[in-house]
Amino acid sequence: MHSIMEQIQTKRILLGLTGGIAAYKGAELTRLLVNQGIQIQVVMTEAACHFITPTTMQALSGKPVFTSQWGEHTADHMAHISLSRATDAIIIAPATADFIAKLAHGLADDLLSTLCLARNCPLLVAPAMNRQMWESPATQRNIRQLVADGVTILGPVNGTQACGEEGMGRMQEPTELAHTVLTFLKPKSLSGVKFLLTAGPTYEAIDPVRGITNRSSGKMGYAIAQAALELGAEVTLISGPTALSSPHGAALVNVTSAAEMFEAVQKHVADADIFIAVAAVADYHVAQPREQKIKKSSGGLTLELLPNPDILGYVSGLPKPPFCVGFAAESHNLHEYAATKRKIKKIPLLAANLVQQAIGANDNELILFDDAGEHVLPRADKLTVARALLQHIVNLYRQGE
Ligand code: C5P
Repeated sequence: MHSIMEQIQTKRILLGLTGGIAAYKGAELTRLLVNQGIQIQVVMTEAACHFITPTTMQALSGKPVFTSQWGEHTADHMAHISLSRATDAIIIAPATADFIAKLAHGLADDLLSTLCLARNCPLLVAPAMNRQMWESPATQRNIRQLVADGVTILGPVNGTQACGEEGMGRMQEPTELAHTVLTFLKPKSLSGVKFLLTAGPTYEAIDPVRGITNRSSGKMGYAIAQAALELGAEVTLISGPTALSSPHGAALVNVTSAAEMFEAVQKHVADADIFIAVAAVADYHVAQPREQKIKKSSGGLTLELLPNPDILGYVSGLPKPPFCVGFAAESHNLHEYAATKRKIKKIPLLAANLVQQAIGANDNELILFDDAGEHVLPRADKLTVARALLQHIVNLYRQGE
């Protein structure tokens, strides 16, 4: 069995430099990664060579540097294929606005953009540019496209820029980038573990145009899915209607009503190792949704509501349930209700939050209830909280294995 460090050390990274002043930091990044025993193959665009020489990069990486698809390094002129196959990940640092635009549109007019398009490995991109270029609608649109394509964006950060202006657009420091790359290369702690999640609200139809729903945005559930994917888990995300795009790599199952969500959970639960019920499932549905739009009348309107199935209760009550995690959103008496809810639902872990602070917000604070007591995950953005929650889940899950 190899140690974690040995497993990292056999890794190879392709470092792409594009034409920005932060290219000099690529030299430091190379040195840091080489010192950790990682093999670095450097590829530079023509513009990058105006900022730093291939000779410097060759000396630091210990390998010939590629600058053109027409070079003599490969006999068959297939450098874009051979280079993108012989690496565990590609990192572009610095990535200019121009190069990001090329990636977003799938352009392939030089060696680096061609091998990015031809890759079958993860791509990490560290933007570096003037703040105005970073904030421009075009760059922001391109970044959103890259995120949707599954590219990992590292930074940029706020600070003084080479042009003398202050703002967003500085490349992350080489030490931080090196740390991210090393973490990225570590064996994934949830590799092979199957997650089933419910997220978002449900929508219970009253008639063809109206329904009963709630203000859940789905952000917390999607962030947990993302955090599980980062640790190498296989994720099936059963989601009520949200305005969010699916985390890259998750199998998304779109549902509308609680009944549909229940059906989808029943279909997928047999495969799941861990079930996390984040969805704000409506407690009731309309007994008889009308097929035609209800016409307004001067009198009142009474709707008969029937209870929905308790999805989490069903899963935790299965003869061989997956490890179950529930959520409780309360407006008051949080501790009392949450602890009771964990007992009623017979689940090992319940994450509780206050609706006033959580619903629709980008930040959250969670209190976890398990056999050992209460644990607070302090207020932070939902992805940070999701990562901390995942760590807690992994610890409990591994104890029970
Ligand atoms: O609505 P309640 O506070 O009981 O929700 C607690 C937990 O149960 C949440 O994790 C929620 O996703 C889940 N739940 C469910 N099916 C329902 C109601 C709630 O899975 N019908």
